[in-house]
Amino acid sequence: LDYTSSKSFVKLDILESVNNYYISNLYKNKTALEYLKQRGLKDSTIEKFSLGFAPQAQIQINYFKNAKLDFKALNELGVLVNGEYPRLIERITFPIFSSTNKIIAFGGRTITNHPAKYINFTNTKIFNKSKTLYGLNFAREHILRKKEVIIVEGYMDVIMLHQAGYNTTVATLGTALTIEHLPILKKLNAKINILYDSDTAGINAALKASKLLYKEFFEGRVILLESGKDPADIVKEGGNLDEFIKNGIEFKDFIISQTINKYNIKNAIAKQHCLNELKDYIKTLPDLLKEDFINTSAQMLQINPRLFYIRKTKEEINSV
Ligand code: CTP
Ligand code: MN
Ligand code: MN
Ligand code: MN
Ligand code: MN
Repeated sequence: LDYTSSKSFVKLDILESVNNYYISNLYKNKTALEYLKQRGLKDSTIEKFSLGFAPQAQIQINYFKNAKLDFKALNELGVLVNGEYPRLIERITFPIFSSTNKIIAFGGRTITNHPAKYINFTNTKIFNKSKTLYGLNFAREHILRKKEVIIVEGYMDVIMLHQAGYNTTVATLGTALTIEHLPILKKLNAKINILYDSDTAGINAALKASKLLYKEFFEGRVILLESGKDPADIVKEGGNLDEFIKNGIEFKDFIISQTINKYNIKNAIAKQHCLNELKDYIKTLPDLLKEDFINTSAQMLQINPRLFYIRKTKEEINSV
């Protein structure tokens, strides 16, 4: 994308205008501001992340008309849906910044218990959510200096962790870590800490992310929290994440232990299934990583490593 073309400039300016409008609405809305305070955010944090509030639909439309904003552009950029209806209504707004600190999209959290807790912009000409890490504009210099990055699930996790001093934190937004994120991470050249919610969805997502990162030669760990909590919860309660981070589990060990956990390996058939699942993953590994992964797996399963090299017979394939 060419940010220097005059056309793009105009459009990016529109998102800045919309953001300023949302910010002014936050400070007019006691409930919204109170919500953020009650989540544990300081004034300076609300300002730093440019949080705002999107009011009722008609109020927004009236404003956009009075401000003479280009409705076609608002629609193209994701602010409006179907050319006339705001995407974010009665929600806290989270601007998403490009690496050059330009707003490229928004996310919004309900404060009225709407069933969709978060609504994110869909992809646009200037926003590809699979290639965006929320918070990277703030975190980049710290990541490069410390050579470590913390990846969390959501907006509030990023914001709360930065507030608590974990300034290398970024998030994949409403999407799993995908192969499309890897070039960004490669460039950062940093050890990765996966710090997802310690609920079933978060742990499964951490396993998928580990499998992807490990085979692409990324170094890093998965950090588990108290069951059911997310990093923002821990920080808000005044808890210390350092303790958890210290006990992070390296990708290889996490992949193997999580896979083993899925099976009752005291049972021989279950153990065979577990072995098969590990073998399937090993097939996808580059040769350089295979032997080490097999040796650790064999050790943790308490079986002979040779079993990983035996091809399944047709009978075995049919029987399991
Ligand atoms: N998410 C989303 N749509 C949803 C739920 C979640 O896009 N309906 C994304 C958001 O980016 C969210 C992240 O997934 O921040 C993590 O989801 P979840 O753990 O459910 O929310 P929290 O970030 O913990 O939200 P909060 O603390 O505000 O309740
Ligand atoms: Mn969760
Ligand atoms: Mn989640
Ligand atoms: Mn969460
Ligand atoms: Mn949360």
